[in-house]
Amino acid sequence: MTAVRTDRLLLRRWRDADREPFAAMNADPEVMEHMQGLMSRERSDAFADRIEAHWDEHGWGLWAVEVPGTVPFAGYVGLWPADYVVPGMVEVGWRLARDHWSHGYATEAARASLRFGFTDVGLAEIVSFTVPQNERSWRVMERIGLRRDPAGDFDHPNVDADAYPELVRHVLYRLRRAEWRA
Ligand SMILES: CC(C)(COP(=O)(O)OP(=O)(O)OC[C@H]1O[C@@H](n2cnc3c(N)ncnc32)[C@H](O)[C@@H]1OP(=O)(O)O)[C@@H](O)C(=O)NCCC(=O)NCCS
Repeated sequence: MTAVRTDRLLLRRWRDADREPFAAMNADPEVMEHMQGLMSRERSDAFADRIEAHWDEHGWGLWAVEVPGTVPFAGYVGLWPADYVVPGMVEVGWRLARDHWSHGYATEAARASLRFGFTDVGLAEIVSFTVPQNERSWRVMERIGLRRDPAGDFDHPNVDADAYPELVRHVLYRLRRAEWRA
């Protein structure tokens, strides 16, 4: 079972119809403020391909977020490998279209992602990370119970430090399965 229902959301595998709103989201300067530039349609589609290939191969990944009765595709939330930080590490991540911020959807979907990761996938730990200035993102991390680990802060290896020096340093948040259960 890879689709999950929450109170307000359907977290599901991706459809072809998601690609257009996904590309629009990835080309929105406000959504992409803390990323390395906007994505072309081609790069956006390639990312969607990687997400679906990861689901096929591993049985977990980034869900397409649907708000039934409101919008068929609001963005993505879910689990994604972060081997480039620490081998075997898995992060919980999110990106929603601007119109769908401030409803608590990221928080609701992220809680379901933790449950799925710790129970169905059997992960021992889930992390998340962002640049310190992405307050909306680290506030989701705090709301879902992840704890800041200052000793884990790191320079992101995939950031072009010459072009985006302000996006290099990342703050790390963690949650272990035993802490989540408690
Ligand atoms: C990060 C991101 C998903 C956070 O979105 P968000 O709307 O702030 O987060 P949530 O969906 O959890 O919503 C929380 C807000 O909804 C409000 N809210 C309303 N109903 C709520 C409910 N039932 N439960 C929780 N919060 C609720 C909260 O008070 C909070 O309000 P605020 O906007 O005044 O702070 C969004 O900003 C985004 O997509 N950013 C661009 C991509 C990005 O940077 N991703 C992270 C990369 S590390």
